[in-house]
Amino acid sequence: MKERERIIVSGLVVLLLLFWLGFLVHRSPRFAGSLWGGVLGVSGALLMLVPLAYMIVKRVPLLRRTVTRRASMRTLLAWHIYTGVLGPILVLLHTGHKFQSPLGIALTAMTLIVVVSGFVGRYLMSQFSQTIREKKEMLTQLELAYRATATELAEHPDQAAMLRPWSGFFARLAAAPFAIPGVTSPGGIPAAVRAVRLSDSMADLEYAIKTHETFKRWFASWLKFHIVISFVLYGLLALHVWAGIYFGLRWFE
Ligand code: HEM
Repeated sequence: MKERERIIVSGLVVLLLLFWLGFLVHRSPRFAGSLWGGVLGVSGALLMLVPLAYMIVKRVPLLRRTVTRRASMRTLLAWHIYTGVLGPILVLLHTGHKFQSPLGIALTAMTLIVVVSGFVGRYLMSQFSQTIREKKEMLTQLELAYRATATELAEHPDQAAMLRPWSGFFARLAAAPFAIPGVTSPGGIPAAVRAVRLSDSMADLEYAIKTHETFKRWFASWLKFHIVISFVLYGLLALHVWAGIYFGLRWFE
């Protein structure tokens, strides 16, 4: 289910970015103020209010209890996500790529940033968590294998001593292409070689886990960012709607 959602939403986000880039080849200064431009603008803005409704439902306990009797929070989040991409697609079409006033440019930029931040938070964050979980499981397996190999080597201290010359950083680099002599296990790979390979793989995995955890920490405050910029977006949207009404609905002229 989440996989299907990820594929559809990724496609829509790519479409949104392509529509935005359309300003490089197309500009229609009067479209936004036309009847169809207006229909697209109003429909998109209404869809963009759904994420706001989601936030209110999520954070007002009485409302949340009432609404979740009919639809789960998971369903509401899916609505949030789909309307959060479809709305911006419609408003981008509404612009007719007329990016002239500072308000119009800021509104478009904020819309894109809000959508992309939601997308990153929703899919990349969970991807990081899943990768970290998988790598930790792999590390546990390797640790078990390493412990078994270490026990095997402990029973043959003379063989374990063979590893000592290869324990320094540069010695390890120099030894990498060669096999280190050791105890041959029933599986055929010498225990000393296995110990070195396992410790190398464990070090690589630990490094990968640390890197992913660092990325995850960087993105940890994404929700705060997503909320703050969506409020900036709603502020700009309100100003834009007010300006549209104040300066006249041209298609009624
Ligand atoms: C017009 C576009 C959007 C606006 C204005 C918007 C606004 C918001 C707001 C205000 C919240 C805070 C809800 C809360 O925790 O109180 C939120 C949460 C969230 N948004 Fe968006 N959003 C938009 C688009 C998107 C998109 C396109 C995605 C994903 C592809 C997305 C994913 C999320 C997720 C995963 C949360 C956290 C939900 C939770 O933990 O309950 N948003 N958004």
